[in-house]
Amino acid sequence: MTIPRNDPCWCGSGRKYKKCPLPSDLVRPDSSAPAGRGRGRIPVKTAGEIAGIRAAGRLTARLLDLVAERIGPGVTTAELDSLVHEATVAAGGVPAPLGYRGFPRSICTTLNEQICHGIPDENELREGDIVNVDVTTILDGFYADASRMFLIGKVSKEARRLVETARECLYRGIRAVKAGGRLGDIGGAIQEHAESRGYSVVRDYTGHGIGRQFHEEPTVLHYGKKGTGPRIEADTVFTIEPMINAGTHKSRLLENGWTAVTRDGSLSAQWEHTVRATERGGEILTDP
Ligand code: MF3
Ligand code: CO
Ligand code: CO
Repeated sequence: MTIPRNDPCWCGSGRKYKKCPLPSDLVRPDSSAPAGRGRGRIPVKTAGEIAGIRAAGRLTARLLDLVAERIGPGVTTAELDSLVHEATVAAGGVPAPLGYRGFPRSICTTLNEQICHGIPDENELREGDIVNVDVTTILDGFYADASRMFLIGKVSKEARRLVETARECLYRGIRAVKAGGRLGDIGGAIQEHAESRGYSVVRDYTGHGIGRQFHEEPTVLHYGKKGTGPRIEADTVFTIEPMINAGTHKSRLLENGWTAVTRDGSLSAQWEHTVRATERGGEILTDP
């Protein structure tokens, strides 16, 4: 998720990202762009880099397993934040969100009508909540990023169906990955499935390349058309992290400057993996 698409664009036009005059795959080199992103180059990883991301990914998955053991009614999201923070440091890693562009915590916890980038706080989770926990870990200089949804106690049928569909969207996206294919194959597969269930796909936040940095090229849209967009090369690594809304796809930013919520107050759900493109498909790097 993660470049809010109404941030100033890095292409040098001085406009907001959304109003940028250039398609993102044609963005010109610009010295103000963070290295590796906004340069229109999708980095191909070496075997060593992939091994590094995989090691960070295994740790990320184990941290999410820890969250799964602890989470439930009465638990605060701040407790989950501390849990992941301590376990990350104990494993020799660094929680990537902490201090990232000023983000104040080590994980994102995103509830109900929130879309992404929820900030852990002292409020207790309650029966009926649906919550995304998003963990990004840096291990030996490599980043890996994954998130899962959790159902707190007994949850409405509607909420369960949304959460299940969002998970299916992630796996359909992963199955659409193929070296030699196009990035639009991923968004096309996700959008088709979400809309067939009567849901919408968030457009303001995207997946992203990942490796030695949190957010690299390419930008991975979760909507679009099969057969379009930049070509997917073998050994490129990026996240797929569809945010699926029960109502409108439109988002609004809360006062805290981070958390996006649905404009109509409808529920939203998201799942995320870090994925490597191979000739044989998408390989998940954030499994335990
Ligand atoms: N993990 C999020 C992503 O999927 C990014 C969180 S940035 C933070 O890209 F600063 F909010 F942590
Ligand atoms: Co991500
Ligand atoms: Co994430």
